[in-house]
Amino acid sequence: MRTLPLRLAVPVLGACSLVLTPAVARVAPTNTIEGIWVIGETPPFPGLRMARIERRGDTLSGTITTDWYGDMPMQNLRMDGAVASFEIDNGNPRLGAKTWTATLSGGTLRIAGDVWHQHVDVAAVPGTEAQARARAFPTYPLPALRALPDNGLARTPPMGWSSWNKFAAEIDDKTVRQIADAMVASGLRDAGYVHINIDDGWQGKRDAQGVLQPNAKFPDMKALADYVHARGMKLGIYSSPGPKTCAGYEGSYGHVEQDARTFAAWGIDYLKYDLCSGEGIYRTPEAVKAAYQQMGAALQASGRPIVYSLCQYGRNDVGAWGRAVGGNLWRTTRDIEDTYESMAKIGFDTNGSPEHVGVGGWNDPDMLEIGNGGMTPDEYRSHMALWAIQAAPLILGHDVRAMDAETRAILTNAAVIAVDQDALGAPGVRIGGEGALSIWRKPLADGSYALAVFNRSAAPLASTLSFAALGLTAPEMVTELWAGRQVAVADGALPLALPPHGTMLFRVR
Ligand code: GLA
Repeated sequence: MRTLPLRLAVPVLGACSLVLTPAVARVAPTNTIEGIWVIGETPPFPGLRMARIERRGDTLSGTITTDWYGDMPMQNLRMDGAVASFEIDNGNPRLGAKTWTATLSGGTLRIAGDVWHQHVDVAAVPGTEAQARARAFPTYPLPALRALPDNGLARTPPMGWSSWNKFAAEIDDKTVRQIADAMVASGLRDAGYVHINIDDGWQGKRDAQGVLQPNAKFPDMKALADYVHARGMKLGIYSSPGPKTCAGYEGSYGHVEQDARTFAAWGIDYLKYDLCSGEGIYRTPEAVKAAYQQMGAALQASGRPIVYSLCQYGRNDVGAWGRAVGGNLWRTTRDIEDTYESMAKIGFDTNGSPEHVGVGGWNDPDMLEIGNGGMTPDEYRSHMALWAIQAAPLILGHDVRAMDAETRAILTNAAVIAVDQDALGAPGVRIGGEGALSIWRKPLADGSYALAVFNRSAAPLASTLSFAALGLTAPEMVTELWAGRQVAVADGALPLALPPHGTMLFRVR
């Protein structure tokens, strides 16, 4: 997840938050912190509704109810005079718990602390049970864990485009159509990139029956799907198992089966399901799995083949259970950024474990940044090669309407794509390399294999690769896939000339 304060600057977010009546009917002032406290004005994130503090014997306990995370327990609640202190954690393992205070003064409780990257400081007044009921956060049962059948999709890693890396939530129907047209005109569709995925920012409100509607930027989702299908491509969409998506839009919480049916009725072919606010709701690994399984089963019951992309940032060894919940790909990492450092960290160091990768289920080290301008062409070739050697999904993230020739050449190199899309579905594994060199091998269906040699340093690197030292039989010739030429292997050694942060990618028969 990217940081929220950035997103909170997006004006549309305010429209997505629960609107509470600012004028709260007051009950008699109190001189104790115990009781129900209703919060009148709240920032949209995390949408504070009320606090409830109770004493049982000597023990104080409490919760803060929020739009994003439901009931957040006040951990380790203690009193010091008129000030109560406690810890709040939103379920994000990286951030941990933050200290909050609740200070009683003149009958008002001032509640302040940090959640996610946001400081919150709100006033609450005493409330009634009826007010508490109106502000209660609904909870729903989760299904028992079971293994869902294979949906038969994504036999090779999904290829396509997503709106997020370039457009974030500033995406609309017109841009998606233009991108779809550009995918055809540029040859990207014919190179295999067939999924056109709308990421966060398309959602509007639910209607009276609870059916999720797109916002005004997407006037007719079915018509958009028809448009994309007519061009030989598929339309993808995005939601969350939590009440709010990462950019603050409506999630599928409490509407999982209904949303799956809506997506199917629109003609959606791919769903990215992003944990977001769900991290504060599903606080155990089992609950997260069950929440993902619930949508997996709902998609399978929808009657439409829908590729299922899990996005919970690789927590809890997701590869070990991603298939069982119906997933075809699972994010293994934090969000990519358009820098060499971010790409390299994700691609080399944090892309899960290869053991669960195979036909129908793929590690997803996040979408491509190629063409967005933050890396050199050599670095972008490394990005592409690193994803291809690991059989990662190839989901483009740039503005296809304004693509330069070099970007197009990187993305449409058929020999490189063939490594990624190989029918065997084997993952690439790092087999050697010292210092700045990193050497990866991926077995291919025809008995050949791909060998990627990366230079992780910012200086050029000249070296030789010894097949014997890697435990491999030396061939006489290999094909270097970027240059598209044969290279002779002399005395079992391959000459290497690698630009800064560059890559050579070989097919060895
Ligand atoms: C999270 C995901 C991103 C993107 C955004 C949308 O940060 O990891 O890939 O989907 O949410 O808000």
